[in-house]
Amino acid sequence: MKRIDFYQLADEANKAREMAYAPYSGFTVGAALLTSDEKVYLGCNIENAAYSPSICAERTAFVKAVSDGYNKPADFKAIAIVGGAKGEEPKSKCAPCGVCRQVMNEFTDPESFLVILPDEKGELDVHTLSELLPLGFRL
Ligand code: THU
Repeated sequence: MKRIDFYQLADEANKAREMAYAPYSGFTVGAALLTSDEKVYLGCNIENAAYSPSICAERTAFVKAVSDGYNKPADFKAIAIVGGAKGEEPKSKCAPCGVCRQVMNEFTDPESFLVILPDEKGELDVHTLSELLPLGFRL
């Protein structure tokens, strides 16, 4: 099994960003979600003329993984996220929105799941999900 490092994961997020469909906001986002068996699911934001059906890049990646059967905390290691104005370099540390944090909380172990946020130099800011979403809701 070839292990993916977090710089490679950030590169994958940049590739995913190229697929973004964001004609309304002009803000394109890419995410690369790493499973425990070293598979990478890519996601991009996909907007809609009615606005509310739009989905963020991070949730696109989770929806793809969950629909392939990955749905337990032990299944997921990390997600890298990049975003910025369409056609421009990604902004520094494009942090996930609250809704995406809550979706991550549903499927991961927030104490160990890592959110990887490249800065403008490509250095990686790494947080556990619990740092970004303390006391996330669970039934
Ligand atoms: N967006 C994401 O894809 N992920 C986030 O965590 C925050 C925002 C998208 C939604 C919308 O298509 C665009 O960025 C501007 O808000």
